[in-house]
Amino acid sequence: MTNATQPKNACILGIGGALPSRVLDNSYFESIVDTTDEWIRERTGIVQRHFAADDQLNSDLSAEAGLKALKDAGMTPDDIDVVIQATCTPDRSIPSCAMAVQDKIGARNAAGFDINAACSGFIYGLNIANALIVSQQARHILLIGTELLSRVIDMTDRTTCVLFGDGSGAVVLGGSDGSRGILGHYMRSDGALRDLITIPCGGTELPPTPERLAEHLHYVHMRGNETYKHAVTRLADSSREAISAAGLAPGDIDLVIPHQANTRILQSVAKRLGIDYDTKFFINLPHIGNTSSASIPIALNEARETGRLQPGMTILLVAFGGGLTWGGSVIRY
Ligand code: UT7
Repeated sequence: MTNATQPKNACILGIGGALPSRVLDNSYFESIVDTTDEWIRERTGIVQRHFAADDQLNSDLSAEAGLKALKDAGMTPDDIDVVIQATCTPDRSIPSCAMAVQDKIGARNAAGFDINAACSGFIYGLNIANALIVSQQARHILLIGTELLSRVIDMTDRTTCVLFGDGSGAVVLGGSDGSRGILGHYMRSDGALRDLITIPCGGTELPPTPERLAEHLHYVHMRGNETYKHAVTRLADSSREAISAAGLAPGDIDLVIPHQANTRILQSVAKRLGIDYDTKFFINLPHIGNTSSASIPIALNEARETGRLQPGMTILLVAFGGGLTWGGSVIRY
């Protein structure tokens, strides 16, 4: 690519998604922990979620979603320069999950790496991809958000096990002249709050020992109620900042595709922004659950498949999660 054709920003050229076929509804959790369908629906909005089969890997779902996004873009794996995988549940610690994905889809010309920004991973990935495309270090990037949270949740802990699900979503990004694509972006974090959502054991801070495994420290621990308060504020802040970076106002947004953690959180965010929840927020949390970094691309794929997302729409993607991390992206689709 020469300077004459230097892209002003990155735009979405293709979208794909992949969900495991096993679906668990709330009654399953009623049978294993002290909870009720009513509590889960009222406090979270979740009705069911997908769980991967025992032999299904993060990279399997990622490859499926990635190949669908490539097909949607009319491209082959050889066209991809970089595979970026947003995940906090990779196949292995080393190497990155992107390496298994690159191999499985046959993206022979690509570099690849993972980013872990928990539920904000896809938003962080969009910003990184945009920078690589604008600086002409890559022409086409496959950005995938995938989680297998079923493998890291404590099925004896009712405060977390009812919340999460598995799945994958992917986009192919390429250069644009600025008339569409990423118009504004925002990302921030606060590492002082890293203990609010964490898997304490399994890294180099607390390597696995029989005692730590017996204490279930290798599973997700979340201080839900404290996290909730930050979520509402940070999602609203991120939305305002990304919209303002795009030179727009909340009234210019046609569709909000937020990270799906809790419908009560999203209703509060909509109110703060003055954007109508019922008509402008795309919500698939009831049948997907919280899929962390996969939630926005899964919702993006579903919004497109169901006709809610139409070409030319100005959309806001906004996320918040472990780290704490948060951010938003305004995109003309
Ligand atoms: O993905 C991005 C980051 N994550 C989030 O944004 C999640 C943010 N947090 C939340 O969505 C909510 O805080 C939860 C859904 C996790 C919890 O809802 P809450 O209204 O904040 O409940 P709570 O933690 O204040 O707990 C209220 C009560 C407690 O009982 P007591 O102490 O009042 O007797 C909990 O033990 O609900 C109890 N509880 C449950 N009861 C039935 C907690 N989990 C369950 C459960 N079933 N599954």
